Amino acid sequence: MSDFTSDFWHYYVAGLTLISILACLVLLWISGTTKVKARDDNTTGHIWDEDLREMNNPLPKWWVYLFIITVVFGLIYGLLYPMFGSKQGLLGWSQTGQYQTEKQRNLDAVAPLFAAFSEMEVEQLARDPAAMAIGSRLYMNFCAQCHAADARGSRSFPNLTNNDWMWGGDPEAIAYTITNGRMGVMPPMAAAVGGPNEVLNLAHYVLSLSGSPHDTVRAAQGRGSWASCAACHGSDGTGNTAMGAPNLTDNYWLHGWGVDAVVRAINEGIVNVMPGQSHLLNEQQIHVLTAYVWSLNNSTSN
Ligand code: HEC
Ligand code: HEC
Repeated sequence: MSDFTSDFWHYYVAGLTLISILACLVLLWISGTTKVKARDDNTTGHIWDEDLREMNNPLPKWWVYLFIITVVFGLIYGLLYPMFGSKQGLLGWSQTGQYQTEKQRNLDAVAPLFAAFSEMEVEQLARDPAAMAIGSRLYMNFCAQCHAADARGSRSFPNLTNNDWMWGGDPEAIAYTITNGRMGVMPPMAAAVGGPNEVLNLAHYVLSLSGSPHDTVRAAQGRGSWASCAACHGSDGTGNTAMGAPNLTDNYWLHGWGVDAVVRAINEGIVNVMPGQSHLLNEQQIHVLTAYVWSLNNSTSN
């Protein structure tokens, strides 16, 4: 497999490798056949450090043989392994192949463990220290880059520890999220709401839902516009896991806190994607990860 868009670099690498090996032979041949004018005492006349004279002796045999062995070794190595550009070696070895083999070997080694885990319910797994240790390592490998090492997330990357779910926090919903990913879409809503003044009023109403600081007069005026939001966020603003619309009555703000952030959400809309992980993790690993994420939100002390 190649990441290059044209074949040029394969020929370039293959050519360079072959030329280097052949150049070694040529060098050896030239140095073996060139006649050097020597003096009667078999020195070349080159003198260093006052009395260090260069003799005109042939290369030592062992050195020449070593040189030839190296060249032959290089050629054989190049035939067996993928040394010439993208050409596969006779052994069929590749880095990706070796990686896959080692990965499979590790998976095989832990297979009995995972087989036992997959028999267990998520609630049971969450109480199993061995399973949670594995879950935490899987989390660090596959999830921490987005949801942070402590799983508390950051702007636009949800906190997975606060039991506040856009898509649902029961084991089925979590497993579905990890396997297939999620795409949260809120369309720009300003046109449905009215002008900037109406948008601002509505934003204050939204803030009032969570008891956040807001202008009560504007909030009262904005109440009427809530109808255009209710379809997704619910008439009481507590959200809807069927479309990933967040609860706006709690004080967790994924996309920023305050009137500016809400106005921006209304004007510009939001698109937020969690990529599915099924190409990276198998079903059993996802089962353990589901239990791990679930355990972050549910007391497991009994
Ligand atoms: C490339 C970044 C990225 C990676 C990697 C990632 N996530 Fe996410 N995840 C997101 C984003 C962004 C969202 C929010 C999606 C949305 O707004 O609907 C999300 C949402 C979620 C949710 C749903 C939260 C809710 O409120 O319903 C869960 C659960 C979750 N991720 C778990 C995981 C787990 C477990 C992993 C590791 C296997 C993982 N994520 C890997 C970016 C990522
Ligand atoms: C079509 C469904 C839909 C409609 C209609 C909709 N929203 Fe949303 N809204 C969403 C979704 C989905 C998200 C979460 C985006 C994400 O992060 O995945 C969201 C996120 C938000 C957020 C960010 C919440 C946070 O935690 O940062 C705010 C604020 C918000 N909506 C306000 C509104 C208001 C006000 C209206 C009415 C004008 C509205 N929404 C209408 C679907 C909708």
